[in-house]
Amino acid sequence: MRATVGIFDSGVGGLSVAEALHRLAPALPIHYLADSAFFPYGERSADEIRERTVEMVRRLIEDGANVIVIACNTASSAGLERLRAEFTVPIVGMEPPVKPAVERSRSRRVLVLATTGTISGQRLARLTERHSGDATIVTIPMPGLADIVEGGEIDGPRVEQMLRTALDEPVALGADEVALGCTHYAFLRPVLRRILPAHVELVEAGEPVARRTLHVIAEAGLEYDPAGVEVEALCYATGDVTAFESTVERLRAAGAALPPLRISRPGGVATPL
Ligand code: DGL
Repeated sequence: MRATVGIFDSGVGGLSVAEALHRLAPALPIHYLADSAFFPYGERSADEIRERTVEMVRRLIEDGANVIVIACNTASSAGLERLRAEFTVPIVGMEPPVKPAVERSRSRRVLVLATTGTISGQRLARLTERHSGDATIVTIPMPGLADIVEGGEIDGPRVEQMLRTALDEPVALGADEVALGCTHYAFLRPVLRRILPAHVELVEAGEPVARRTLHVIAEAGLEYDPAGVEVEALCYATGDVTAFESTVERLRAAGAALPPLRISRPGGVATPL
């Protein structure tokens, strides 16, 4: 059976994971579901997110996906165990890249940026306990930051100010690794690179998750033709499709790396972006 990957996020953030997957496997069919009607997940309760995520994964499977990627740290934190108990298809989740950040840190001080939901979740607490070793992990919730990205704003004074307020002090105290624990923040790499000193590294999980997904596809015995023709990812948004489209256009105009996309409209007509 041919592999079709269903990628899910609360909004545009998971497109950073879709881009990594498309770059590694351009012919792999991707269905991308943005739960924009329910955005942001970061400020909702874990129970609410769990219920909603089950519903969204069901939709992706009904639509033909046979491998699922939860390209959202907040949804993975709240719902991954429940999803794996509920569905038989392989499900790849995401977590803030604490482990690689700790491995690379020379100063032994690591920062984790994520939503309030991910920062307060048990999954991150367990991850930190397991991988921190002798390093100090400073977790920084960034309420409102994913919302700004979801509006297509990935640079400029507002974003820069928010990031400086969060990062200047802990970086001055010696942190040398910043783990990005929200898929929306992947689009902030250029502004982060500009405001952080050169010795501070950024660690993202998008590409490792894409590699893991290809591995899971092979393990599940699903087919994918590495030499096949490149395909566009098919995108669905649960909220206003036009608003989702204009966010994608703004991201593209701002230079964000995105895969080729086709947006599904309620009438069934998909428009290329
Ligand atoms: N992209 C989601 C994540 O990786 C969070 C955005 C939201 O708050 O909905 O955590």
